[in-house]
Amino acid sequence: MCRRGNSEVIDASMDQIASPADAAIDQPHGMRYGELARIEVLASVSIVVPTYREVENIPLIVERIARVRNECLSNLELIFVDDNSADGSVEAVEALGLDWVRMIVRTDERGLSSAVIHGFRAARGAVLVCMDGDLSHPPEVIPQMILALDSGQQFVIGSRYVPGGSTDDDWGILRWLNSRVATVLSRPFTSVRDPMSGFFALRKTDFDAAANLDPVGYKIGLELIVKCDFENVAEIPIRFADRVHGESKLSLKEQLQFLRHLRRLYVHAFGNAMHFLQFAAVGASGVVVNFAVLTLLLWMQLPEAACLAGGIVASLISNFLLNRRITFSYARHGNIWLQFVGFVGASSLGMMVNYGVALYLNATWLQGVPYGLYAAALCGITTGLVFNFLGNRYLVFRTRYIRR
Ligand code: GDD
Ligand code: MN
Repeated sequence: MCRRGNSEVIDASMDQIASPADAAIDQPHGMRYGELARIEVLASVSIVVPTYREVENIPLIVERIARVRNECLSNLELIFVDDNSADGSVEAVEALGLDWVRMIVRTDERGLSSAVIHGFRAARGAVLVCMDGDLSHPPEVIPQMILALDSGQQFVIGSRYVPGGSTDDDWGILRWLNSRVATVLSRPFTSVRDPMSGFFALRKTDFDAAANLDPVGYKIGLELIVKCDFENVAEIPIRFADRVHGESKLSLKEQLQFLRHLRRLYVHAFGNAMHFLQFAAVGASGVVVNFAVLTLLLWMQLPEAACLAGGIVASLISNFLLNRRITFSYARHGNIWLQFVGFVGASSLGMMVNYGVALYLNATWLQGVPYGLYAAALCGITTGLVFNFLGNRYLVFRTRYIRR
């Protein structure tokens, strides 16, 4: 028995173990993907399976995990976290009568990520594993995942997108595209090939140390990679099988949730740069609002001065609301009227800075330069924008603590 870092132990000699990268191909010593590694893992392991209306799959997944348990993971518990499916799932678990399998039923909350976190908190094992309950993920690779943790990896993913990994053919083009786009959007945080995977393993101590987890939506694995700042992340190829029973719970709503989740992760990872980007994007949207209202008022044949003023006021209001809701959403519970007054103040100051800088540059450095006035205006706009941003970020929408 050996002990490395925080992880518990794996009792196996190397010549008995297939390396993860080779696991997908035939091995000279006769092992193939899908077969169990002939090892005995002594570490205590908790598998957490979030379920919602998976009654038909429960006995099947327990059966497959039981095989793994008998062969090499004797110290294993299985925890289902069910969000009150009321489809006989509880009875199905009870009927099995296995002391290493239990089901937690939540009645106050619904959601895949929060269910997984709930299960991890209740888990007793030193190693935590999360997997789907619809048999999409092969429990047979769990021993390899634990070996990878024991050899120094901090987070191990069952991955579809590394050599040897695959997804079943019936994946529609839309679902495939969706998964790919989501993966590309998360590239700034991690170079992992399959950060969207819902099949992963980590140490309980690392999970316990993770601060401010924000379990929104489906991608709890990505959340953990980013928030725990894992450096050593390994991927083990899996074949992601299509579910046979029941249907996917991944709705359009969940996919929109993912965009929300991504935005929060970007703010977490890139802080003020992300706030600024959103502020600038809202500013650009204000131009569109301004022009739209201007056009509308002109069409209503109001005097031109009133039309211009209408455009400005409309964009000021829409910018304020969008910034409060999106850019500085952490401060959206503050007093809206005070914030509005502050926003208008900061905007006016920003405008004066804009004007001052443009006038100054035009009269000095840019004098006589072709298109100098435009260059001066552009510098004015940029400085005004930064000034405006800083005023809003640190005065109007200030906060002592940003929940990222
Ligand atoms: N407790 C609970 N609460 N469980 C849920 C909920 C919920 O609100 N929604 C879904 N689940 C469970 C399902 O019962 C299933 O066991 C697992 O979470 C995955 O749900 P599916 O509905 O089968 O998801 P999927 O197959 O579309 O998505 C899977 O693949 C994605 C990658 O393509 C999941 O593994 C995702 O995590 C993964 O990102
Ligand atoms: Mn599924």
